Amino acid sequence: MTTPSLFDPYQLGGITLANRLVMAPLTRNRAGEGLVPTPLMAEYYGQRAGAGLIITEATQISATAQGYQDTPGCYTPEQVAGWRRVTDAVHAKGGRIFVQLWHVGRVSHRSLQPEGAAPLAPSAVQANTKTYVNNAFAPTDEPRALTLEEIPGVVADFAHAARCAIEAGFDGVEIHGANGYLVDQFLRDGANKRTDAYGGSIENRTRFLKEVVEAVIGAIGAERTGIRLSPVTPANDLSDSNPQALFSHVVDVLETLKPVYIHMIEGATGGPRDIAPEFDFAALRARFSGTWMVNNGYDRAMAEAAIASGAADLVAFGKAFISTPDLVERLRRGAPLNELDTAHLYGGGAQGYTDYPTLDAA
Ligand SMILES: Cc1cc2nc3c(=O)[nH]c(=O)nc-3n(C[C@H](O)[C@H](O)[C@H](O)COP(=O)(O)O)c2cc1C
Repeated sequence: MTTPSLFDPYQLGGITLANRLVMAPLTRNRAGEGLVPTPLMAEYYGQRAGAGLIITEATQISATAQGYQDTPGCYTPEQVAGWRRVTDAVHAKGGRIFVQLWHVGRVSHRSLQPEGAAPLAPSAVQANTKTYVNNAFAPTDEPRALTLEEIPGVVADFAHAARCAIEAGFDGVEIHGANGYLVDQFLRDGANKRTDAYGGSIENRTRFLKEVVEAVIGAIGAERTGIRLSPVTPANDLSDSNPQALFSHVVDVLETLKPVYIHMIEGATGGPRDIAPEFDFAALRARFSGTWMVNNGYDRAMAEAAIASGAADLVAFGKAFISTPDLVERLRRGAPLNELDTAHLYGGGAQGYTDYPTLDAA
């Protein structure tokens, strides 16, 4: 058997990826009216179609799922039509693309919620974190706990958005189970104080994730369903008393449901990889027989080592794909990357978005 390389094709369920480099989900706050993806977004993703797989920015499953201004949705016909432009642009260049489906839960602001209502969460525990509204960062509002009767509706919203995604031409969806948003809020006991079937024990706290994954798989099939997790990230003020036990159970549940991949953020999202040195990611990987995608602070050498050793099947790059549309080609040639324009990450137009040069243009 030859050692696999980053630049070898990879069979992900029913689709073939041209290489093992994935564009990580990256929120850019540039959706248009009605939270519809714009032609500029189609251009941006089309420029990055050299990735083996693109995972889009986090995308709302419903109106209550929104927590930041100008982030796109995937639940109305207009949004589906907007995303169709994006998937067409990527497919025309031979790329593959999944949409990341999210509900922000408590990481929201009343000004973004229907009728100015409180954001929805497992429990009425406010997150000590900021959201982005009216072109500025603002503290999140105190959430309201979802009633037991409301939970199936949120699960159904994930399935509806997944069906919309397939209608929009996506190759699949990634359930956003990471970074302190709704699915993660149910999982971790820092935010989940429920005393019903969705709180308390690890099994109960995993119930919402399990139902969401089952519903999405029921809607579009396991081969088109991936999920992102971040067991030790403190992002959005989230914590757990025993992440190793919790996420061992989560992965065991996923092993029975067989989503096409698990996308694992190692360490603090966008921060130190060694924030929890005692946490054993390899032990999680050993519990799952499907595709294992890793992310957080990878460079070419680290990514090559992970693929060659079999520690990972796919490696996702975030910031490098923002600054460098032709990242795969640059890594292949050992060429330097563009510098990241941190002033234009969130919101705005083409500047710091679609104006990064490729190697051939530079
Ligand atoms: C501007 C920006 C937006 C991000 N948006 C998302 C997002 O929508 N969904 C998500 O799961 N992670 C998001 N992340 C986290 C990235 O996907 C990734 O985990 C992080 O940047 C670490 O990878 P890197 O070191 O390769 O950049 C975002 C990160 C950045 C810098």
